[in-house]
Amino acid sequence: DKAGHKHFMAKEIAEQPVVIGDTLSHYLTDDGRDVVLPGDGIDFTSIDRLTMVACGTAYYACLTAKYWFEQLARMPVEVDIASEFRYREPPISARTAALFVSQSGETADTLAALRYCEPHAQTILSVVNVPESSIARESNLALPIHAGAEIGVASTKAFTCQLTVLLLLALKAAKDRGTITDDRLADILSSLRGLPALINNVLEQDTTFRKCARLLAETDNVLFLGRGLMYPLALEGALKLKEISYIHAEAYASGELKHGPIALIDKKMPVVVMAPRDALFDKTVSNMQEVMARGGKILLVTDGPGAKEANEGVWRSLTMPEVDPILSPILYALPAQLLAYHTAVAKGTDVDQPRNLAKSVTVE
Ligand code: M6R
Repeated sequence: DKAGHKHFMAKEIAEQPVVIGDTLSHYLTDDGRDVVLPGDGIDFTSIDRLTMVACGTAYYACLTAKYWFEQLARMPVEVDIASEFRYREPPISARTAALFVSQSGETADTLAALRYCEPHAQTILSVVNVPESSIARESNLALPIHAGAEIGVASTKAFTCQLTVLLLLALKAAKDRGTITDDRLADILSSLRGLPALINNVLEQDTTFRKCARLLAETDNVLFLGRGLMYPLALEGALKLKEISYIHAEAYASGELKHGPIALIDKKMPVVVMAPRDALFDKTVSNMQEVMARGGKILLVTDGPGAKEANEGVWRSLTMPEVDPILSPILYALPAQLLAYHTAVAKGTDVDQPRNLAKSVTVE
């Protein structure tokens, strides 16, 4: 049941304010001021290292979480793609927690990576949408994302719910390890509770996204750039676009531009820049100017202050609500999804069942 939407993907994008609210209600105390984990939870004081493994969009959720665990909990984190990790057979020290992220909980490579870690790691954690799945059953602690069934092959609401659970887990780790003040924790939790309303605000700008997407649908190549927390999101934006619109898209960390991809810049290729007005904004803007100086077309996704500062000379600009920078990947997932969705609709591709793709990759 598409609940009045043209595609499951559109329904799942629109559901995000509600499902994220639901995820939060499962992981916050009644007063909303502390994080609670299911079952016996996990005590991060006995853990020195986190290894996160996943595929596709779930891998990008892990890459984002690396920034959170490092910044908030000062914890060393290794992130890998399951198909590489499992055959590389990396050494795993005893005080390591291994965390596997999977919407389906049945991805063959991710499950194999879990089984590899099982005898070595101190504990096996998973972040899953299907609590009965193999990955959930074979972990010491499964953290459900409560996104509800996701039908569209392109992952949307599962991604933002994965991010929500991973941020909450990073906050729990920070609290256990004494690396966050009570005030900062209260601030972030309060911003998280306000996130569904901000997502609604982005969803209300649907028409603006549709107009932009009509322009993207005319092109053969799109480059995505982001720095810091926006880098994994740039990767996710490129994956979403190529999966459902079949437009060639790739993503780079903004700082890598000069090390190669700048050679691709010409008048024909739009460059999507994801950049809230955060501590790294000025650096990203100077990368953006390098693109414009070479005739490149910038689609800037930023907030009000960012637009005020950097809109001059850009091709198109999309304005997001302002949010605590630590939460920006969850909010900026929306423009990534909406641009891909409307571009695919404009091209007339099969949005929910893109060619050659399966929802769950249970064979390698
Ligand atoms: O079920 P999983 O989260 O383990 O699936 C991982 C990937 O196959 C999945 O995220 C894939 O990349 C999606 N099609 C992305 O939209």
